[in-house]
Amino acid sequence: MLRTHTCGELRAENVDQEVTLCGWVDSTRDHGGAVFIDLRDRYGKSQVVAAPQAGVPLVESASRLRSEDVILAKGLVAMRPEGTVNDKLSTGEVELRVTHLEILNRSRTPPFTPGQQDLPGEDLRLKHRFLDLRRPEVQRAMYLRSRIVKSMRDYFSEHDFLDIETPVLGRSTPEGARDYLVPSRVHHGKFYALPQSPQLYKQILMVAGYDRYVQVAKCFRDEDLRADRQPEFTQLDLEMSFVDADDVIGLIDGLVARLAAELLGMEVELPLPRLAYDEAMERFGDDAPDLRFGMELVDCTDLARQAEFRVFRGAADSGGRVRGFNAKGAAGEFSRKRIDELTDYVRQDFGAKGLAWFRVEEDGTLWSPISKNFSNELLVQFSERMEAEPGDQLFFVADSWDVTCKALAGLRRRLGAELKLYDENAMHFSWVVEFPMFEFDEENQRWNAMHHPFTAPRVEDVALLDESAASCRAQAYDLVINGSEAGGGTIRLHDCALQEKVFRLLGIDEATAQERFGFLLEALQYGAPPHGGIALGIDRFVMLFGGWDNIRDCIAFPKTQRASDMMTEAPGDVDASQLAELNIRTIPLSER
Ligand code: AMO
Ligand code: AMP
Repeated sequence: MLRTHTCGELRAENVDQEVTLCGWVDSTRDHGGAVFIDLRDRYGKSQVVAAPQAGVPLVESASRLRSEDVILAKGLVAMRPEGTVNDKLSTGEVELRVTHLEILNRSRTPPFTPGQQDLPGEDLRLKHRFLDLRRPEVQRAMYLRSRIVKSMRDYFSEHDFLDIETPVLGRSTPEGARDYLVPSRVHHGKFYALPQSPQLYKQILMVAGYDRYVQVAKCFRDEDLRADRQPEFTQLDLEMSFVDADDVIGLIDGLVARLAAELLGMEVELPLPRLAYDEAMERFGDDAPDLRFGMELVDCTDLARQAEFRVFRGAADSGGRVRGFNAKGAAGEFSRKRIDELTDYVRQDFGAKGLAWFRVEEDGTLWSPISKNFSNELLVQFSERMEAEPGDQLFFVADSWDVTCKALAGLRRRLGAELKLYDENAMHFSWVVEFPMFEFDEENQRWNAMHHPFTAPRVEDVALLDESAASCRAQAYDLVINGSEAGGGTIRLHDCALQEKVFRLLGIDEATAQERFGFLLEALQYGAPPHGGIALGIDRFVMLFGGWDNIRDCIAFPKTQRASDMMTEAPGDVDASQLAELNIRTIPLSER
């Protein structure tokens, strides 16, 4: 070892010891003859002093050090002189009086330094990720990530789970996104798909009798990226045999409580609250509601039917809904300009036709530019329904069920944050359960699986598969943390006939089912146990536990919004010869 200690290690008890530190020059200060170097590594910072007693060549060499040079400094640990102790640093009581200084490697002038106050743009930081990763905030994410993964592995290992790897080169697994494809050189014209999840492999492992499987699995999904989505992300993936939904949920409850205790020092009451999907949509318009605050949706469709206001009555009479929520005591926050912005927001982002609002006046009456379209009695009824009090602001959206859900959920989330309705450090864990099996895809006029096609219906809903797919509920569960979907899973279909029936409902005909999932259908006929599981989004866990807003902050080498890696410049060009070997020709964009 070149070093005897790390830069975060030295304390008063090391005084008079001869030690060697290695690290990066964070900064240097020249104090008339003595050079003070802040030396940094991932453990912390130490003050290294090149004093005149050490000799002119050493001081001169120290004075020529620049940011991010890598050095080795050997010397004696000493107490810092009185008045120069730095309480903010764990090593702040002592300094290293250097007797031997070696430059292990010079750094070019960096485009930014890890300690810099005003950070440059994200693109520049991602391009020089090796520098960015030296920043304490990024290190905090890497540490937290490592601890979360370790705690998860420990937990599942203690619960008899077997860690088994599944292939990355495989066949497409439908999780609802586009596949990343890998051309095969050996099989002309054929492609592997990178896994969107290890879903089918883990089910096969259950058939094979490995009744508790776990894996930290890389997943790949070519979809539009958002603040909480990466094209390549990591799941804590697991599957269990002979269990029901309560068993899986209970197991994850235990994990959540353990992570909260170990990482946040927070006691979580178990069982975690569970909300049925229908209730979540009715009360929050959201299948992953942020329960750190209230501001629940209230249905006023029946009242709207009596209104003269054509927008309200029209929606109510045509099978739609009129719903709203009460922003308690917030009337003063909503200028006309801000309301216009919010109206644009619900229009553009969620396809709402508009946003109706009322201010509750001192005397308790509702005022709005549209109030003249309502009788006084009706306004009183609206007011009572919304539990309105002077100083409140009410918002309403009249539209189809779907649009009222999306628009009001979006608005509720936005205002929850903007009105600071919750403590930023609060953590809220809950489950949303009993999702519908299917959702109707208007564009293609067909049913899609809400989770994935291998999900079992609730036992009492099996008959509904024949009668009314729309009302059939799944044995599905999502873990929600602070309004984000942090995990999701289901109990699976282990009965081949039922699985085939679900494929048919999804418009997958027999030939296609055989072609794509023949191996699964076959396996289900050789003694498939009842089984189910879940996958937790590790990147999202880190983001939520650490309080970051962007998933990129929690991944060592993330991709940008356009799915590229700024540092390696992936995706990149390949040689013509490589393409030729794969029998692939690219078509210029202009000829498409
Ligand atoms: P699902 O598709 O719900 O389920 O994924 C599970 C969890 O993975 C995380 N996640 C993502 N994180 C970052 N970027 C993404 N693009 C991304 N997509 C998903 C989320 C999500 O809750 N095979 C099933 C699990 C099962 O049924 O057992 C599956 O993959 O936190
Ligand atoms: P209009 O009659 O279209 O000018 O709308 C009058 C007010 O009602 C405006 O403030 C609109 O934003 C609002 N509004 C219009 N359509 C809807 C709707 N579907 N739901 C809620 N408010 C609406």
